[in-house]
Amino acid sequence: MKLTYIIDGISHVVELTEATNLLSVLREQNVRIDAVCNGNGTCGKCRVRCTEGIPEPSFGDKQAMSAAELAQGWRLACLIQVMDDMTIECPSDISEIDVLTKVMQNKGGIDPPVRTQTVTVSRPDVEDQRDDWTRLRDACGNNDLTIHYSALLTLHDQLYRALEHDKGKLQVDFYDHFAVAVTPASEAKQPLGLAIDIGSTTLAAYLHDLSDGRLIEAVGATNPQRQYGADVISRINYTMTNENGTSQVQKAVVDAINNLIDKLCKEDSKDAVREIVITGNTIMTHFLLGLPTASIATAPFAPVFTAAKTLSATEIGLNVDAMLTIMPSIASYVGGDITGGMIACDLTASDKWSLLIDLGTNGEIALGRRGECLACATAAGPAFEGATIRHGTGAIAGAINTVHFERNPMYTTIGNKDPIGICGSGVLDVAAQLLQHELIDETGRLLDPDKIEHTQLSKRIRQTDNYKEFVIAGSVDDPNAITFTQKDVREIQLAKAAVRAGIEILLEEAGVDYHDVERLYIAGGFGNYMNIDSTVAIGLIPRELKERTLAVGNSAGTGASYYLLSKSIRDKVNALLPITRYIELSSHSGFMDAYMD
Ligand code: FES
Repeated sequence: MKLTYIIDGISHVVELTEATNLLSVLREQNVRIDAVCNGNGTCGKCRVRCTEGIPEPSFGDKQAMSAAELAQGWRLACLIQVMDDMTIECPSDISEIDVLTKVMQNKGGIDPPVRTQTVTVSRPDVEDQRDDWTRLRDACGNNDLTIHYSALLTLHDQLYRALEHDKGKLQVDFYDHFAVAVTPASEAKQPLGLAIDIGSTTLAAYLHDLSDGRLIEAVGATNPQRQYGADVISRINYTMTNENGTSQVQKAVVDAINNLIDKLCKEDSKDAVREIVITGNTIMTHFLLGLPTASIATAPFAPVFTAAKTLSATEIGLNVDAMLTIMPSIASYVGGDITGGMIACDLTASDKWSLLIDLGTNGEIALGRRGECLACATAAGPAFEGATIRHGTGAIAGAINTVHFERNPMYTTIGNKDPIGICGSGVLDVAAQLLQHELIDETGRLLDPDKIEHTQLSKRIRQTDNYKEFVIAGSVDDPNAITFTQKDVREIQLAKAAVRAGIEILLEEAGVDYHDVERLYIAGGFGNYMNIDSTVAIGLIPRELKERTLAVGNSAGTGASYYLLSKSIRDKVNALLPITRYIELSSHSGFMDAYMD
């Protein structure tokens, strides 16, 4: 049988020999379909439009789409078994998310483990038969030095080229006591380093000059693992249920990092990269190294490793001959990204308490002061990134990013493009506005239009076959209008409750309350763009902390840069880990009460 799929007007044909799941076929064809729930039929994101061989709508299709959309042929790819010839139209490839690469000003100091030394070596002769490495090491004046294999491979050639053209003058680049590159002086370059934050949704990479710490350039990209699920548990499930799942997920992120490196490094600067520091949640770093993750998904949630790990970047397929260092995690669900954030925000600098909340795909929280820290992870889910929201989308061009019901139109979009969906900051605004204009009651139930005082707004509430919803963009009669549904309200309520419960439990464990918290740092892309008033209105952030709240951008990326640039910061991280107490919320006796409150 023949499957024809059309993307951006171009047809592609696949011959199938047996009935096959449509989402699986598209994945094999490298068509990046948004599959937030990894094919469980619950997120409603993997939509395709069938134009020939249209299957009967399934129960899941009917739950996710209106009658008008079903009549137009829209179906969920993960619920279709292709059993006969079929033609479908796919939405354009997953759009690139506007990645937050903003970092905090460097306060970490510049003393990287990478350093250079310029030395002059002499030619061997019958009186001096020292080998090449001994000759170089003696010129460096340190018997404790050793040489990395990749540098040893080119040592002889480099040394004799230096003798030939540079009077024996060489630059030796060291990583701690390892010589990692030997270059004739006239060809030597300043050593470079990369700090990379692997988020569940986006990647951010920062290129630094290691001689002075200067940030040369930063770039970002969407994490292509998103096609295997928006949240980490969906991705773990994918690796568990697909024979080559772990290597597929690893390859996706390795390829993405190689692309970022190509963007950042001109061809002649790539060979000057000496170290790559990577941070990310524990599952992301396990995926990167191709490690099994199944044990992280179920109690007792034990990962393969949490300590810092150093290896050669080429060992995992990165196209740079450099050292690769993975930042240490605190626990399975409090990863190196939070370690980085705690360092970037200097959580232990003051005798007063500070809170750090990273509102990414999970909501990780750390509470710290001089000498002690606590950390936890809340199962907030990806609602704040729009993933489980009916018309949710990433922060891409056309995403509705702010909403205010008193404006006309009531929304703005990224890049002033026509609206295509709602991203996290917009989602938060809608929830807050619905509450403030009394379109939902205190339980979160969308009210019937006749119960709403504001008549203009009441006209924007409509009932579909499946749910009640509020129309944000488009006419009320338009089946393709962008809406916020009753289920969306519930998703936000659950996510908010999880984060607030996490905050309450950490404060309780520390024996303090809001008044003892000097500063609340909000990290992550969503945290940077959200309207603080909206977060307070829906109760995500305690009202008492509103004036003490500071958005710190990509604190994980900042922490990775600090780590790259400073051995002192690495010592600080090593000192931070033993004083950080991880609180497992799923088994905490007070969590359910705090969550239900
Ligand atoms: S509904 Fe198909 S991937 Fe979620």
